[in-house]
Amino acid sequence: MKSAIIIGASSGIGRALAVTLSLDGYRVGVVARRTDLLAQLRAELTGPCVIKTVDVSQPELAMPLLRELIEELRDVELFIVSAGTGFDNAALAWEPERETITLNVLGFAGMVNVAVAHLETRGSGHLVGISSIAALRGIGGAPAYAASKAFVSNYLQGVRYRFNKLKLPIVVTDVQPGFVGTRMAGGNRFWIASPQTAARQIIAAIRRRKQHVYVTKRWRLIAWLLQVVPDALYSKL
Ligand SMILES: NC(=O)c1ccc[n+]([C@@H]2O[C@H](COP(=O)([O-])OP(=O)(O)OC[C@H]3O[C@@H](n4cnc5c(N)ncnc54)[C@H](OP(=O)(O)O)[C@@H]3O)[C@@H](O)[C@H]2O)c1
Repeated sequence: MKSAIIIGASSGIGRALAVTLSLDGYRVGVVARRTDLLAQLRAELTGPCVIKTVDVSQPELAMPLLRELIEELRDVELFIVSAGTGFDNAALAWEPERETITLNVLGFAGMVNVAVAHLETRGSGHLVGISSIAALRGIGGAPAYAASKAFVSNYLQGVRYRFNKLKLPIVVTDVQPGFVGTRMAGGNRFWIASPQTAARQIIAAIRRRKQHVYVTKRWRLIAWLLQVVPDALYSKL
């Protein structure tokens, strides 16, 4: 039985991914802070599931806990780092900026560091990071969020180059969702996908060993616009 670890699986996209992977026959290791929600998830799944309470925003504590979970599962083929946060922060209050950068940058890199070490030891596997369409351009009302997701996408690219250089058949998938109907979407409803639809499209991309995917697919149009709209116009939006 293949094993997958989903980091940030107590709600939203990560939870939907855990449910779908379990139905697909994976033994899942699920990570988040809210142990009660992880226990509820485990009770719902028919397949094997190991839960681990971890605060990813404290990498020095979180990294050894992720290594423990890998040992409990013995061999892990697929890692998905979905844990993340973000806030509308037009006032540029420091606490939301700090929280976003700590989790989405430091925490993300800490989890990927442990996953990479395990995948390189086993010589194959798959690493998936949940970035965002926001990675493509700065956002005036949420500068930390957009910049942190640019870090996520760029970090994944660097890890992919590393695996290529080492000639290791390890796939790295950068997932850039638009709006998905979770706490993170706030009041945004434009082209919103359910977490289940997002999970299905992400898993299809994993099966096809894709390096990059927009979720849902039509967000590639917005991605293109984000890259071509001139600054003078974009900064007024
Ligand atoms: N929803 C959207 O519109 C959207 C769009 C683009 C990208 N994304 C990205 O998708 C990813 C998943 O978000 P979501 O939409 O599924 O939102 P969500 O329902 O809020 O899920 C976030 C997950 O991250 C976990 N998490 C948060 N802080 C954590 C911490 N310090 N330590 C460990 N786990 C932590 C949460 O668990 P606990 O609170 O239990 O720790 C939860 O399981 C994020 O990276 C987000 O940036 C979302």
